[in-house]
Amino acid sequence: MSNQFTPNNPLPQEAPVPEELATFSPEVEAEIERHLAKYPVKRSAILPLMFIVQRERGYLDPPGVAYLADRLGVRVTDIWEVATFYTMINTQPVGKYHLQICKTLSCKIMGEPQITERACQQLGIQPGETTPDGLFSVSLVECLGSCGTAPMMQIGFDFHENLTTQQVDELIVRCRNGQLSNGVR
Ligand code: FES
Repeated sequence: MSNQFTPNNPLPQEAPVPEELATFSPEVEAEIERHLAKYPVKRSAILPLMFIVQRERGYLDPPGVAYLADRLGVRVTDIWEVATFYTMINTQPVGKYHLQICKTLSCKIMGEPQITERACQQLGIQPGETTPDGLFSVSLVECLGSCGTAPMMQIGFDFHENLTTQQVDELIVRCRNGQLSNGVR
């Protein structure tokens, strides 16, 4: 699941030193407390808390990272190390709909290059970029564990499998029409 070398999730040149900690509503704080209460060791809640911060702030920004380090009692660098390992954690702003196209062997053999080309052509961007209106990002990611239904991509938390270029067009239209989940539930 490592994607630390993809354009969308680069390893920071140096861990930013945040000037402020993110703040959240009482409801979100309560949600965070519920997750923390599940684990005897606070740092074990790192992934669920990362998802919450990402959901609330759009991506893992430096104040969000500082908040996590503070709540979990770890170093900022520890947070970045985990954040840059996982495809599903964004360390840069992404569009409302994040098209994560699997570029690993099965998907590549079964048509990933055509899928990527079609998505990029339709959106006028390259992998690792976001459309000017902020609606779409495209990333190439490592195997998402759905090799038997290659080629595939993930949008939000949903897999879209056995893709054809026509289905790529249809998915983009469904996103534009608000008919697909972007993972913010
Ligand atoms: S190779 Fe694409 S999901 Fe495994």
